[in-house]
Amino acid sequence: MTPLVTTAADVRSAVAAARAAGQWVGLVPTMGALHAGHAELVRAAKRACDFVVVSVFVNPTQFGPKEDFAKYPRTLDADRQLAADAGGDLVFAPTPAEMYPDGFVTFVEVTKLDEVLCGPRRPGHFRGVATVVLKLLNVVQPDVAVFGAKDAQQAVIIRRMVRDLDVPVAIQVEPTVREADGLAMSSRNRYLSADERAVAPKIYEALKETQARAAGGEIDVARLESGLLAAVAAIPGARVDYANILDAENLTPMTRLDRPALAAVAVFLGTTRLIDNVILG
Ligand code: PAJ
Repeated sequence: MTPLVTTAADVRSAVAAARAAGQWVGLVPTMGALHAGHAELVRAAKRACDFVVVSVFVNPTQFGPKEDFAKYPRTLDADRQLAADAGGDLVFAPTPAEMYPDGFVTFVEVTKLDEVLCGPRRPGHFRGVATVVLKLLNVVQPDVAVFGAKDAQQAVIIRRMVRDLDVPVAIQVEPTVREADGLAMSSRNRYLSADERAVAPKIYEALKETQARAAGGEIDVARLESGLLAAVAAIPGARVDYANILDAENLTPMTRLDRPALAAVAVFLGTTRLIDNVILG
């Protein structure tokens, strides 16, 4: 099992010791309930760095009042084992009071990029994400921090925050890890009923179909987007939250597919909200 620390002071002294030994430091921020997707991030961090910190913190500020903060799965012992198996050297699992002591009033807002996709549907979510990620970067001060492409908008926002605020870290984004049938791995997949789980792979099928149309020469983004929406809406029992194709770097609208685009969807299956995406071009 990976050694565990719960305070900023303890993670700082462990990192200081690694640095004194000439080691490069990597950080993989997570909310725990670790799965094979997270394990790939830890492996990638370990390839890039000598000493890898995995943070496990179910961050209250990124959950809306009606979201699943209270019931979000908490599996710290299994997380420590998975982190160790993937090459993690230290798990940092702070308490909410450690991260947000009494009197905490400072938040980071990455504007514009939070006005599309998940932003309007989850008010305050990316403010919570940006704030906790900046705090984790400041506590650990890693050379490299690794994120997953599964949360594409989050990755774009964190890259921009780091650039805009001159945070001295390299942000690395790793491909989405999927189940054998294509469903993107997620801590929330365990909420799906058997029927919902059976149709869930159709989300990725719809994205791949869009990718195939783009590869086949379709450059009209409106047509690609309406095809994507129709395919996702046709999934039995699905309620589409959004299906959009945007500039992959700036998350701005496009008319022609003349630069890399992000095709992103959010879908409710029952009460479980799933997100997935692919890059076009
Ligand atoms: P969490 O959902 O636990 O995800 C932690 C990291 O794992 C994120 O970078 C996410 O993109 C990545 N990840 C999740 N599923 C993945 C998959 N199937 N393949 C590859 N990577 C995957 O994202 C968060 O936590 C939080 O918002 C956090 C950044 C930790 C801030 O609280």
